[in-house]
Amino acid sequence: MKIINYIFTFFLLVPHFLLAHFTGHYDDWRNKRVIAIVDHYGPEWFEGKTVLEVGCGYADIGNYFYQLGADVTVSEARAEHCAEIARRYPHLKIIQCDLDGQWMMGNHYDLIIHMGTLYHLRDPVKALYEACTRCDHLVLETECSDSSDPNYCIFTLENGFDQAYNGIGCRPSPAYVERVLKMFHFDVDMITDNRCNSDYHIYDWPITNSGTWKHGQRRFWFCQCFLHTQMCEIGRQHLH
Ligand SMILES: C[S@@+](CC[C@H](N)C(=O)[O-])C[C@H]1O[C@@H](n2cnc3c(N)ncnc32)[C@H](O)[C@@H]1O
Repeated sequence: MKIINYIFTFFLLVPHFLLAHFTGHYDDWRNKRVIAIVDHYGPEWFEGKTVLEVGCGYADIGNYFYQLGADVTVSEARAEHCAEIARRYPHLKIIQCDLDGQWMMGNHYDLIIHMGTLYHLRDPVKALYEACTRCDHLVLETECSDSSDPNYCIFTLENGFDQAYNGIGCRPSPAYVERVLKMFHFDVDMITDNRCNSDYHIYDWPITNSGTWKHGQRRFWFCQCFLHTQMCEIGRQHLH
């Protein structure tokens, strides 16, 4: 019984930040990705823009764009992450939403930030459809399989605070992601250099058609709608 008391006291005394998630390797990796986004659009672009970050963890990324003047909504499946966002960033709009199910977000955003999340979802086509029909610009960043086949996608079991909420994730090939984005009327501009490489997260790996995936084997695209879909138009009319 005594040992249980000691453990309980330890957790009460440990400062909150020592127990926090989304730190460690996340810090440098997150900074590099945020810098890549700001470099792409320019810092002034964000003033007054509506931005949605999905699968946001603790919303440290979304909050950065709030500081640049954007109207930011963040969404996350896990209730405990949403509670931490509310504690850290009470000024953000928070929507608890399982992206594998029905999206509960608004109909239209200037930009959706979709980083580190697609590969934790069960159906990449549905996930991209939901995002592409709600925005003009999409920042998409995900783990991928090593394949040039535009129909290649591996599915895998996952477990952990930052992994698939429903326990099943996908690893589409980069060509698969680009095929689907084009199908939903988005032009894609992929980062091909090492500016976002951090720890084991690598973006400039070559395709060897091994058909495998490993942690940190990633791709990053800036995407822009070239033909507004009907859904997008309805969303825009509804908002303006
Ligand atoms: C690898 S973390 C990425 C966090 C942040 N977006 C980043 O790039 O640093 C993946 C996040 O997606 C969330 N997630 C996983 N499955 C989800 C689902 N079905 N719906 C919504 N969020 C989900 C996890 O809870 C976690 O916060």
